Amino acid sequence: MKALVLAGGKGTRLRPLTHTSAKQLVPVANKPVLFYGLEAIRDAGIRSVGVVIGDTGAEVREAVGDGSRFGLDVTYIPQEAPLGLAHCVLIAREFLRDDPFVMYLGDNFLVGGISGLVDAFHAGRCDARILLTKVAEPQFYGVAEIGPQGEIRGLQEKPECPRSDLAIVGVYTFSPAIHEAVRAIRPSMRGELEITDAIQWLIDNGFRVNSHLVSGYWKDTGRLRDILECNRIVLEQIEPEVAGTVDGLSEVTGRIIVERGAVVENSLLRGPIVVGADTKIISSYVGPFTSIGRGCVVQNAEIEYSIVLDGSSVDGVSRIAHSLIGRNVEVSRAAGVSNTHELMVGDHSKIQVKA
Ligand code: DAU
Repeated sequence: MKALVLAGGKGTRLRPLTHTSAKQLVPVANKPVLFYGLEAIRDAGIRSVGVVIGDTGAEVREAVGDGSRFGLDVTYIPQEAPLGLAHCVLIAREFLRDDPFVMYLGDNFLVGGISGLVDAFHAGRCDARILLTKVAEPQFYGVAEIGPQGEIRGLQEKPECPRSDLAIVGVYTFSPAIHEAVRAIRPSMRGELEITDAIQWLIDNGFRVNSHLVSGYWKDTGRLRDILECNRIVLEQIEPEVAGTVDGLSEVTGRIIVERGAVVENSLLRGPIVVGADTKIISSYVGPFTSIGRGCVVQNAEIEYSIVLDGSSVDGVSRIAHSLIGRNVEVSRAAGVSNTHELMVGDHSKIQVKA
């Protein structure tokens, strides 16, 4: 069995980060979301992985390399434009040959791995096995309508009026029959070759398509609140470890990871938190569910329930919460006139300040 990991696409909902960076590389507890997927693939016993890349391909290649650090053998498959999930299967034909494969959307986060799905696929002798989960807002996902025996009656991609609250999770298993399906379908209203339509084509043409409900936690990390929520879930499970230094004036409660070279001075840390290598936390409060990247400075500041990427500083500011701060960003107090906000912000940024 092979795996096809989708790490191209646009990531418009995570702008401005995705103007310069791949959405699959946004870190959750200081590890790119994509890496959790690659580890799950490896843990399911798969070795040969095709990674579809787009405009941010160079960054993905640099982060993943040849895959050996994950115990994987990675082949890159460049996609000229984000023409849809089924288009990714189309261009991966040569890599996939006639092997069955798992397709894993690189921005999906699934707790509990994929071994269960892979085993069920092998045992079930079907042409596609998909995962479903109940969601509050099905209109943002592929949606499945299922019959009394759990059989799939129909699938729709982001329907205005969903016929169920069962979303299609972004991890699928396919037999080579999917290649005929992706060749047969036409682009959708949004101009993409939809994998949902290809699976519907399999159903309509008498192929065997099964589904099962995801028992563990799943999130598509395409939106800010979802990535913060994933960060919370992962931080809840961390093994505490202090490889850096925490001075005697600091107070620490809960689980914290302080990576090598990081320094915590005169600060209040309420876990779960991860502090990246070579980061300095000085005279600050860092609250629960916060990941601070590598080489950052948090000084005379308060921050909680947030993600800060590498090389950024937060200085003299209270209190930042529910925030995602990109790389090499400076957040500091405006000098001079009080009650003034001074901003230099990239395109498509979102800032919410106290009224
Ligand atoms: O997350 C689950 C949902 O994923 C499913 O419920 C939907 O049925 C499915 O269509 C998909 O919807 P999204 O709108 O969330 O897909 P998105 O455009 O975010 O793409 C998913 C991943 O695939 C993402 O890592 C980017 C990558 N991708 C996407 C496209 C369209 C590519 O590599 N190439 C592409 O052409």
